[in-house]
Amino acid sequence: MVFITHLPLLITFLEVPAIKTGSSDYCLQYIIHVISMFCILRWMLMTKRGGDWWRRLSPSLQFRTFGNVDVIGKSDWLTYQGATNIATTLRAAAIFLRLYGGWDWFITLSARDYPLITQDDLSHVFSSVRRDLNFIEHTSDLGWKEKHRFQPIVVDPGLYLARRSQIFIATEKRPTPDAFRIFTGSPWVIISRSFLEFCILGWDNLPRTLLMYYTNVMLSQEGYFQSVICNSPEFKNTTVNGDLRFVIWDNPPKMEPHLLNISDYNEMVRSGAAFGRQFGKDDPVLNLIDEKILKRGHYQAVPGAWCFGRRRWWMDPCSQWGDVNILKPGPQAKKFEESVSNLLDGWKSQSNQCQ
Ligand SMILES: *[C@@H]1O[C@H](CO)[C@@H](O)[C@H](O)[C@H]1NC(C)=O
Ligand SMILES: *[C@@H]1O[C@H](CO)[C@@H](O)[C@H](O)[C@H]1NC(C)=O
Repeated sequence: MVFITHLPLLITFLEVPAIKTGSSDYCLQYIIHVISMFCILRWMLMTKRGGDWWRRLSPSLQFRTFGNVDVIGKSDWLTYQGATNIATTLRAAAIFLRLYGGWDWFITLSARDYPLITQDDLSHVFSSVRRDLNFIEHTSDLGWKEKHRFQPIVVDPGLYLARRSQIFIATEKRPTPDAFRIFTGSPWVIISRSFLEFCILGWDNLPRTLLMYYTNVMLSQEGYFQSVICNSPEFKNTTVNGDLRFVIWDNPPKMEPHLLNISDYNEMVRSGAAFGRQFGKDDPVLNLIDEKILKRGHYQAVPGAWCFGRRRWWMDPCSQWGDVNILKPGPQAKKFEESVSNLLDGWKSQSNQCQ
């Protein structure tokens, strides 16, 4: 099966409704992005129940031609802080495993994320990364979360009620588990295909047991993959402790990270992260990223070596294209390479792995 590669981050598609014109940030649940050995990218848009704006979109020309974007129209309820978020991620992963072979990593994104590198940068740097590595930020130092996240028992009504609702917290608490170790960390992950198969196919009971446990944990997406991988002897050694995202937390931290703006731009660029989060609707810093890093015009694809069209203000250079398998890393590739290589040094030393 051949899919086309450098469909510019589908961002043409993503950001227009979700961030830039902000019809509603919350409709678009997230996108998944897969890199294969041939630098093939496929996207999946998981839509949230109750939002059907995406039906009205007219996808860009490349999007139609390359057909590497799938929209999952049969959507599920998603409850803020609830386990339905993990269910949706696992569902997307299962669809990828079932429909497509030959890919290497599964990347989760939300509608409030924005790339800080081009697809070519990502493919270029990841082409020399060991295919079995997982980028999952994690720690077993639970701190305040032990009492406030792991001991309370929550129930996500999205799993059984046919209407939108909020999680509720039971009056009973439960002890911290001792049958396995709990890890927590960033909900945004880059997972290898082999680890994802382990989670989805479930020949070992660990992923299923933890899924059942995490069903009643608040913000389960901040601990599920972390706990599965670090409790599994076969996969533990493949955990790289980082998520390659740029995030700023307020001090003291609030539920959601600080909304990135122009004042954060330089730090974002220096970070060498792959994605920034989170951005507010129409924030001017998004235009700056488009202009300086992604070099893309309004409503256009992020150009790469595959774009043959002339660069004129009225013309999309990617409206004509040649070989889509040629990579041309952009200005941020070096920084990104450095940050990946720093994480890999940490991984080799095993000093912060599943500790
Ligand atoms: C993981 O690393 C540890 C420590 O280096 C080693 O003893 C163990 O055999 C490795 N496990 C696997 C499955 O490679
Ligand atoms: C960016 O956000 C920070 C923190 O919210 C704020 O102090 C700063 O003024 C903002 N900068 C701009 C240019 O809006």
